[in-house]
Amino acid sequence: MTASISDILLAWYDGHARALPWRNPPGAPLPDDPAWPYRVWLSEVMLQQTTVAAVKPYFAKFLNIWPNVEALAAASDDDVMAAWAGLGYYSRARNLLKCARAVAGRGGFPSTEAELRKLPGLGDYTAAAVAAIAFGSRAVVVDANVERVAARLFAIDEPLPKGRKAIRAAAETITPQHRAGDFAQGLMDLGSQICTTRAPRCLLCPLAACCKGRETGEPERLPVKPAKKAVPERRGTAFWITRYAGDGGGADVWLVTRPPSGMLGGMRALPDDGWSAQADGSGTAPLAGDARMIGAVRHGFTHAHLTLQVVAITAQGPPEGEGQWWPVDQIAEAGLATLFAKAAGLALAEG
Ligand code: ADE
Repeated sequence: MTASISDILLAWYDGHARALPWRNPPGAPLPDDPAWPYRVWLSEVMLQQTTVAAVKPYFAKFLNIWPNVEALAAASDDDVMAAWAGLGYYSRARNLLKCARAVAGRGGFPSTEAELRKLPGLGDYTAAAVAAIAFGSRAVVVDANVERVAARLFAIDEPLPKGRKAIRAAAETITPQHRAGDFAQGLMDLGSQICTTRAPRCLLCPLAACCKGRETGEPERLPVKPAKKAVPERRGTAFWITRYAGDGGGADVWLVTRPPSGMLGGMRALPDDGWSAQADGSGTAPLAGDARMIGAVRHGFTHAHLTLQVVAITAQGPPEGEGQWWPVDQIAEAGLATLFAKAAGLALAEG
C-alpha cells in the first residue's frame, strides 16, 4: 500500500516541526491544561498577517500578564490595546477582548469548529485552526502557507481569489481524521520552510514525488495571484504637544485615544489632523501656539502609505477635546501604535 499524503507529511513533521512556544510537540497527546485552548487561540489570532518572529515576544507578554482567558476577559480595553501596540491590525485586539469576555461568560471555549465560528472575531481560518490544534478535531485549516502548498500539490492555476474554492476542496481531500493539529501545522511548516513563495526547495520536499506543480516545471508560479493594486499615498500631520509640569517633574505630552472604530481604533495616539480622512494633510492643531515642524515619518498600511509630518507645539493651556497629559519619559509605556511611536521617536530625537 502506498503512503498517503497525510502520512508522508505527518512523518516529515515528526522530524522537522518547528518548536514554537504555543505548540505541543508532534505526536504528543493534547495537554491536560484548562488554558491550552486559550494559548492556541491567542497564538492563532496573533499570527494572522503577522510573522512568527514578530508574534513570539507578544505571545510571551500576553501570557505573562493574562495567563488564561478569564484573566484576559477581566482586563481593561486600554491595557489590552496598549499591550498589543506594535503588532498591527488593531481590530484583532478589540475582537480578542470581545471574544475572551464571551468565552469566559460561557465557561470556556467550545470544542467544535461550528461553535467556535460563532464567537466574536473568529473567522473560518481561526475556528478551524483552534478546532484542529486545540481540540484535535478534523478541520480543514487553510492559511496562506497551506494555500500555496495545496495549489502546487494539485497544480491549481485558477487565479486567486476565485481559485480559493478549488484549493480548499483539494486541502479537504488530504486532511486526515487523526492528528488534525499536527497535520495543519505540518502543512504550515512545509509552506514556510520548503514550499516557499520564491525558490521553493523541492529537492528537500517530502511531497515532491506526488506534486503536480513540480511536474509543470514552474511550481513558483502557483498560486496565481491577482495583479497588485496601487496603494494610495496619504499625507497628514501629528502634533507633539508638550508642557512642563512645573513641579520639578519633566515634560508631559498630550495623548488622545482614537475613536473605537476605524484606523488604529481605540489606540492611544498623538493628536493629528485627521489624515485618514484627508488626502492633502490639511487640518488644524487642537490648540494654538508656537508650532515647529520637526520632520516626517513614513508608514505602510495595507491600504495606504502615509507620510506623517510631526509638528511640535509648546502648550500654553490645555488642548481642545479629550486627552491626557502623559510623562514624556514614560512614553514607551503609553502603548502607541507603531506609526505614532515613530513620530514620538522623531520628536524625542529632536529634543
Ligand atoms: N501560522 C498560523 N498558525 C501557525 C502555527 N500554529 N504555527 C506556525 N505558524 C502559524
